[in-house]
Amino acid sequence: MTTTSISTASGSTQSKAASFPADQIEQFRCQYPDYDEQESEFPLWIEGVDTTYAPFIPTSTRRVLIALDMVRLSSADKVLDVGSGDGRFCFAAVSFFGAQKALGIEYEQDLVEKSTELAQDLVDQGRILFQKADLTNWRDSPTMQSKEWTVIVVFLSPEGGTDMEEWLVQEFERGVRIVALVFDLKHLKSLHCSLEDTEEGIWVYEKQQQ
Ligand SMILES: C[S@@+](CC[C@H](N)C(=O)[O-])C[C@H]1O[C@@H](n2cnc3c(N)ncnc32)[C@H](O)[C@@H]1O
Repeated sequence: MTTTSISTASGSTQSKAASFPADQIEQFRCQYPDYDEQESEFPLWIEGVDTTYAPFIPTSTRRVLIALDMVRLSSADKVLDVGSGDGRFCFAAVSFFGAQKALGIEYEQDLVEKSTELAQDLVDQGRILFQKADLTNWRDSPTMQSKEWTVIVVFLSPEGGTDMEEWLVQEFERGVRIVALVFDLKHLKSLHCSLEDTEEGIWVYEKQQQ
């Protein structure tokens, strides 16, 4: 059983057991086996490699569902996954949580093609899109400067993510919820971590209501 911490309005922290229904996780895994790669041990990272461009290390479908549940994804949301890999976050966001739309930005052409293929029906319906682009060009990216996103998913190495920190702060300030995988963003002091599950390596950042 994992422990989830909730930062309350008063700034204190409560703990509760993560409680995403196991039968729903199992149903999703069986229905979409293409995304269901063997779960690696957490923290899942490769030591000793240049991580300037984070390699493709998929998040298990179980943790994808937990993370999107923690960020309270709903049909009101539009999701941007920066470094989308095989597109599993975008797919789960739209197909499982009913998000309006999801877009994944990915540097590797073969992953863009694979993710498009895996989510073909939703791509055809215009609810999911994968773009081949380099995130480090975020200043000139119409997609990353668009104000339509309500949730950002980020699972990138700290080295690769550094240049994007300014962008993450900018998006947080305008009210976007950010869900970070494996690497927390606590060094970004202007972000407020509202919910964390350190055992699962999932952190949610959300602006506090005034
Ligand atoms: C750790 S994987 C996460 C994949 C997916 N979000 C998941 O959780 O399963 C990081 C992904 O980011 C992509 N990536 C790394 N640096 C990038 C960059 N500068 N621009 C675009 N994509 C990048 C990698 O190719 C890889 O697929």
